[in-house]
This record gives sequence, C-alpha cells and structure tokens, in this order.
Amino acid sequence: MSTYQLKVNGAQKSVTVDADTPLLWVLRDELGLVGTKYGCGIGQCGACTVHVDGMAMRSCSMTPSQVEGKEITTIEGLSKDGTHPVQQAWKEVDVPQCGYCQAGQIMTASAFLEQHPNPSEIEIKNAMHGNICRCGAYNRIYTAVEKAAK
Ligand code: FES
Repeated sequence: MSTYQLKVNGAQKSVTVDADTPLLWVLRDELGLVGTKYGCGIGQCGACTVHVDGMAMRSCSMTPSQVEGKEITTIEGLSKDGTHPVQQAWKEVDVPQCGYCQAGQIMTASAFLEQHPNPSEIEIKNAMHGNICRCGAYNRIYTAVEKAAK
C-alpha cells in the first residue's frame, strides 16, 4: 500500500491504496464518487471517463501515481448543480435511455468542447466515437453535443 495526494474536484485528498489500483476504484471506493462508472475495465468503453488536467481520460486505465499533482474532475465536479452547458443540453435533448454510460459521455463531450468550441458534425462523431452506448442513443448524444456548442 502507498499513500497518494490527489486533487479531485478542487479538493486535496489523501488515499492509501495498492500502487496498481485503477483510478476508477480510487474514485468510487475510496472517495465515494460513484458517478464514474465501470464498464469494461480495459479502456475500451469510455464509461469511466474523467478529466485529468482538462483532458478526457479513462480512469480504469490510470494508476494513482500517474495522476498525482494533476487536476482530476469527475462528473460530480463538472458543475455544482448540473448546470454545465453539456449537462443542460443533455437534459434538453433527453439523451439517456438506461443512463449508465452518460457520465462518461458527458465528460468526453465537455473536454472536447473546451478544445473545439465550434465543432463540425464529423468532429463531434469522431470525438464521441470511443464512448459506447449499449442503448444506441448516439443520435441524441450528437444532437446534445451540437446544442451545447452553441
Ligand atoms: Fe474504463 Fe470501459 S471502464 S473504458
């Protein structure tokens, strides 16, 4: 076990875990931030996406030492009350079906729009390509990202 100092949603946190514990489980099990979801555990589905220094990253594939000293943001920290433009657009478009993948989708979309405030349709599709939705809500996801960009 090792102790790591992590900055999560603006707050400094100290966690003691095995060095190979994925960030996903540190967030969920040690810090109680269960908005970040487990899907595949091997970096393939996007359900576990968080921001690390503003970039969308897969928390299942990162260790605590890789994120020490960096700004980690989870869905709980994206906005205080669900008013981030991407979250607003998600509600307006009524995106979720089962909802399981949505936190990861929103974290990917919000990091993407920070870098590309006026994306084309194809850029949106490419950016969201790695986030799997088992319900197939892709058209509503693309519409919401487009709406959030406006
Ligand atoms: Fe991390 Fe699927 S749970 S990418």
